[in-house]
Amino acid sequence: MAIILGIESSCDETSASICINGEIHSNVIATQAIHAKYGGVIPELASRAHQQNIIPTVEEAIRQAKVSKNQIDAVSFTRGPGLLGALLVGTSFAKSFALAQNIPLIDVNHMQAHILAHFIEDPKPSFPFLCLTVSGGHTQIVLVKDYFEMELLGETLDDAAGEAFDKTAKILNLPYPGGPLIDKFAKDGNPAAYRLPEPQISGLNFSFSGLKTAILYLVQDQLKQNPDFLTHNMADLCASVQSRIVSILLNKLKKAAKETGVKDIAIAGGVSANSGLRQSLIEMGEKYKWRVFIPKFEYCTDNAAMIAIAGYHKFLKKDFVGQDVAPMARMHL
Ligand code: KG4
Ligand code: ZN
Repeated sequence: MAIILGIESSCDETSASICINGEIHSNVIATQAIHAKYGGVIPELASRAHQQNIIPTVEEAIRQAKVSKNQIDAVSFTRGPGLLGALLVGTSFAKSFALAQNIPLIDVNHMQAHILAHFIEDPKPSFPFLCLTVSGGHTQIVLVKDYFEMELLGETLDDAAGEAFDKTAKILNLPYPGGPLIDKFAKDGNPAAYRLPEPQISGLNFSFSGLKTAILYLVQDQLKQNPDFLTHNMADLCASVQSRIVSILLNKLKKAAKETGVKDIAIAGGVSANSGLRQSLIEMGEKYKWRVFIPKFEYCTDNAAMIAIAGYHKFLKKDFVGQDVAPMARMHL
């Protein structure tokens, strides 16, 4: 019997989860609405909101899982990558909790955890598999050889895919986070309405900054002729941008699958909630005979269930850290 408490606080969600013998029994997420009016996450405000939310969030996760605090066998927490002040709140909480309960402490890499979210429910991918991890801060193609043995095959050279969504949304006058809104408007738009550039980057790396500039110039030009341009063309603009971001991502994923010969293909991270990406990946999977793995919506964006499941697999290996552990804003896979 192993009961793990997982804590996530790397960006703007405070989350806690209870995992019992590899099964998730609660996953409580407190989203910080405060950032919307600033058009992006303000690190100082994120830290303060984590401080306010962490105790009630943990208490609620324990309550929903119907366990008592004294039954918890270990606490896992996001050590990085992320905002240092935000990570510090979850790390300090986890350390104090482990000390007070006299239980082991487990550090978790947030990007590994996004991938390990695929081990929460069936069907689970088999090793080795490829994972396209797309979030607000990262865009990576990873060859996953084992739970904690991951090789980075490609990554973004500038903006992350989520950032490309969010920055485009800002240009389109949509509030933060823009990804889900672009997804929503895109459903009614024509993806071929605007031709946007596909960057010519060799290998398995990505670039999204040129796309953002192209949209900025397009919108600025059109607004000069028609001040209502955005309101009248929002769906077509969103559909065009989304379809270009998706094609950039999937073309590289296709290349990675071809080069490695791997046929279990997964996506993870906040942008894997995007309906265009999910749909196109399913179609591509049918075409190339891949087994495709797409996380449930609640396990795409930041959540502690993925930290708890990663913690569980480290617990089985007795891979613990001491009280001197410190958060890391930058942390490799
Ligand atoms: O993984 P995540 O929750 O946080 C980070 O670790 O960064 O990812 C957040 C990102 C944001 O950029 C957000 O706009 C994007 O995921 N996102 C989406 C969708 N839902 C969230 N992007 C496109 N379509 C969506 N449906
Ligand atoms: Zn994330």
